[in-house]
Amino acid sequence: MSNIMIIGFMGCGKSTIAKALAKKLKFECLDTDALIEQKEGLKIKELFEQRGEEYFRMQEKELFEELRHRQNVVIATGGGFYKALQKDKNIFVVYLRAHFAYIKARLSKNALAKRPLFADEKKAYELYKARLNAYKQRADFILNVEHKSVARLSSLIIKEWQEQEKK
Ligand code: S3P
Repeated sequence: MSNIMIIGFMGCGKSTIAKALAKKLKFECLDTDALIEQKEGLKIKELFEQRGEEYFRMQEKELFEELRHRQNVVIATGGGFYKALQKDKNIFVVYLRAHFAYIKARLSKNALAKRPLFADEKKAYELYKARLNAYKQRADFILNVEHKSVARLSSLIIKEWQEQEKK
């Protein structure tokens, strides 16, 4: 497994951890939302408004097919990217788990405004509950992120990744 992919709900710290991992491993860091924004020339919020969620999900599926062929990359994903994921021996999938309250507290007003699916907190919570099992099922490694530093989280991920490499 030459690549690491980070999945989990909005605001659990996927991008932060991916950057730290990439730095440690000297891998390239990719971000699925950023790649889609670049390709479409629109911010995620605008993309949802102008083209709709279904279109965005299609972009995620196409992107996954491209990413499967990459080597030595750490990929931070959008919270719904797991739907585009397929089992791939080349990708080590890490699920960053946190309680909804923790996630909410972590997101600033600015961060919330960028996330169309967090506009309504009640709906976001429903989505959170509905996705928990799906994240779990797709993960090679599940990590609780609460009250752990970024450095500790990255070390734990690398350790587990190397263990699984040996198998
Ligand atoms: C989404 C999460 C967002 C972004 C889009 C949809 C989701 O990414 O891809 O707004 O379906 O959970 P983050 O998880 O980085 O917020």
